[in-house]
Amino acid sequence: MGARASWSGQLAFVLAASASAIGLGNLWRFPYLAARYGGGVFIAVYLSLSLTLGFVLLVTEIAIGRYARQSQLTAFGVLGHPKWNFLGVLATLVPLFILPYYNVIGGWVFRYFAAYAGAAFAGIAPTADPKAFFGAFVGAPWAPFAAMCAFTAAVVAVIVLGVKNGIERANLVLVPALLAIAVALSVYVATLPGAGEGIRYYLVPDFSSCDNIGKVMLGAMGQMFYSLSLAMGIMITYGSYMLRRDSVPKAAVRIVAADTFVAILSGFMIIPVVVVFASAGASEGVRAVIDAGPGLMFETLPKVFLSLGTAGPWFGLVFFTIVLFAALTSGISMMEAIVAAVCDFFKTSRARSVAVVSVWSVAVGALSAFGYGRWSSLRFFGLPPLDFFDTSMNILTPIVAALICVFAGWILSPKRILAECQRSGERVGFRLFYVVMVRFVAPLLIIAIVVSEVCRCLKLGGWSI
Ligand code: PHE
Repeated sequence: MGARASWSGQLAFVLAASASAIGLGNLWRFPYLAARYGGGVFIAVYLSLSLTLGFVLLVTEIAIGRYARQSQLTAFGVLGHPKWNFLGVLATLVPLFILPYYNVIGGWVFRYFAAYAGAAFAGIAPTADPKAFFGAFVGAPWAPFAAMCAFTAAVVAVIVLGVKNGIERANLVLVPALLAIAVALSVYVATLPGAGEGIRYYLVPDFSSCDNIGKVMLGAMGQMFYSLSLAMGIMITYGSYMLRRDSVPKAAVRIVAADTFVAILSGFMIIPVVVVFASAGASEGVRAVIDAGPGLMFETLPKVFLSLGTAGPWFGLVFFTIVLFAALTSGISMMEAIVAAVCDFFKTSRARSVAVVSVWSVAVGALSAFGYGRWSSLRFFGLPPLDFFDTSMNILTPIVAALICVFAGWILSPKRILAECQRSGERVGFRLFYVVMVRFVAPLLIIAIVVSEVCRCLKLGGWSI
């Protein structure tokens, strides 16, 4: 094992962390949550949360990683608190269990990308009945597994090349391409007849649809965690490759800005087309159409694309290209967090670690990939495997985030995090704010998410989101 790998500079780090952050959460989850929770109201709440809480958590994780020069598994112990190694284990379990099913969903995206590519060039829609298409695909004996393997192979191909030659280079192509296509698509959508109404629906606060501001805040907070790739070990691992001369707070601000920009942009891509579609005859109304949850991306949007006539397949192709790029870079970051943990813990080579993690990912991913088809009788606590993993991770993630705050605020001391922020020689002007946030505000707010998630699972209703 040689010296620890590092990014080539601040830009490479910001690009990598943003590439991780920008993913399915921005493109699919943010728009439907915004439509559900009163448009502008949700956007305002989300912005205020990500600029405060999101920023603080991001700084904390990156600083821990850079300080320890270790991935999340070993970082807490290396910082002189071996009792907190359990937190490293928990923080590693998150990506370990999310990666396999994220790759399954990545496979779905890949399948749709391929279907729209074929359809666009043939000048026809990929299917006349998107709901049946999705059902047939996820229920097919081999297709979801094969798609997952293809997606995983693409991720592995990048990871195996290493931090600078693999991840950095892939991001240099994928992130700017994603941004350019997303901006172009939003501009195109704005020119469609009736788009104005959709943009109004998206941006104008609708207080009537968010009677309970607590619910909106919880929704926004959960979204923020997922979207900023927090509590998954990723930002600790990526931070451990950061150069000492680069600024942690500046990087964190830029990552939050990039991630939020793409989230808001996705609303401009999706909501107006859905509004036009819904007002042109769908009887359910805009809210019901867009609030289709997970079905939005794979069933509802293809229906909307169908209504666009000949432009539809092209629209679908461009859209799924963006989604594919976003999913790839997020998958890469998640796999890297596990590969780094295995390397740091077992002091083994990158190649070996990648091999082990790939086998794990494919084997565990198979449960989710086959879970709606050939193994559809397989249920964990009554849920299909993918839903089960997703639900458990939704609970584990905020627990890990709260513990990271407790560690930084009470065990390690915020001073050490702030000192790490000052290594680049700059003055840190948010000391008091940081201490109050990391010690009190953040853990309390996060506990509220845990409670709400648990209630949702137990179907107690009320505060569930
Ligand atoms: N942050 C990513 C998104 O917004 C999601 C993600 C989850 C990334 C897990 C990496 C790991 O979609």
